[in-house]
Amino acid sequence: MDIHTTDDAVTRRIRFFTEREDRLRGNDLYFYNQPVEEIRGGSRVIVKGREMGMYASYSYLGLIGHPRINAAAKAAVDKFGTGTNGVRLLAGTLTIHTELEETIAAYKHAEAAITYSSGYVTNLTVISTLMGRGDFVISDKLNHASIVDGCLMSGAEFRRFKHNDMTELERRLQQTPADAAKLVVADAVFSMDGDVLDLPKTAELCKKYNAWLMIDEAHSVGVLGKTGRGIEEHFGLDDVIDIKMGTLSKTIPSVGGYVAGKKELIRYLSHASRAFIFSAALPPAQAAAANEAFKVILDEPWRIKKVNANGRQFIAGLKAAGFDTMLTTTAIVPVMCGTDERAYQLTQSCQHKNLFVLPVVSPAVPEGQARLRATVTAAHEPGEIDHALGVITEAGREIGIIQ
Ligand SMILES: Cc1ncc(COP(=O)(O)O)c(C=O)c1O
Repeated sequence: MDIHTTDDAVTRRIRFFTEREDRLRGNDLYFYNQPVEEIRGGSRVIVKGREMGMYASYSYLGLIGHPRINAAAKAAVDKFGTGTNGVRLLAGTLTIHTELEETIAAYKHAEAAITYSSGYVTNLTVISTLMGRGDFVISDKLNHASIVDGCLMSGAEFRRFKHNDMTELERRLQQTPADAAKLVVADAVFSMDGDVLDLPKTAELCKKYNAWLMIDEAHSVGVLGKTGRGIEEHFGLDDVIDIKMGTLSKTIPSVGGYVAGKKELIRYLSHASRAFIFSAALPPAQAAAANEAFKVILDEPWRIKKVNANGRQFIAGLKAAGFDTMLTTTAIVPVMCGTDERAYQLTQSCQHKNLFVLPVVSPAVPEGQARLRATVTAAHEPGEIDHALGVITEAGREIGIIQ
């Protein structure tokens, strides 16, 4: 099919994006997929030979390259090789998979855990396995795309409630038939805004209306709670979440996703979820790296204190300069710009001054809410953050985002 001469809907969609990308590249405003040649100490990267301060990484505790984690991955390659020869159910579960799942269950204060090949796949497969036609899934409007896709794939009635609005969540629960199976699902820390779900009220409502509760802890593990266990620890609650979902690709420097919960739930998922039955398991090196990373988090609690102190410093500095950072209290910091153009300009200016930041524009966020979505990690030093604040503030003034 020649995109230059045909004109069906697929061709038009491809052409729309190609032209948009070409336009951005032509104006030196395209900053996605940059070639990172080296990661230095977690807070700096080398891009096309230039050293840049990294403010777009989800390695919240700065664990990428940690010697203990690297050594565990290398030892697993020596012991098991580099692949898993197919699905675990048939080709066999490696002992490192079992070890990892036991580590996750203990860390999350759950009876058992199951792992999948990515966080995205975990949300898709777990929601669509548990829920089906005639059931109801009730989802926060700002939930991650993988949750939305899992809800749609399940075939259940899909209801959304206004972001973190507990009155509307209750209304949605009241609107579902009392005897229907219901699942309430939300991010713990929202990936675009950085704010924290009202878990105490969400859990209370789920109990009152007999709904299952699933929480995605992609951005809260390692960040929320004294020992980084996430949103339950943050609010001083224990075991109010039925389906504790997380990813192994952010704070945990590996790849994969997991769910922790009651033994029966995990046994059911390991025999009924299609991504477990029909897709190969995590490679040994990645499983071993993840397993060791949970141990490092418990052994090095200073990292949790540091990422949170860095978050507070960064947010306070941006606010003092006059930026709107919405309701974030975590390591994800939206720097609101207004129009897409302003977000691109702010990115360009920061990138030219060796600050690695990325814009989030429509349709990923509503029109008029374009932003830089910056992140800080435990790998940043306070002096680096001060420098970044200086660069963003100067650029923000030049562009007219702040006075
Ligand atoms: C909230 C949330 N859930 C799930 C995912 C998917 O995780 P993974 O990258 O491991 O597929 C992401 C990734 O960006 C996320 O932000």
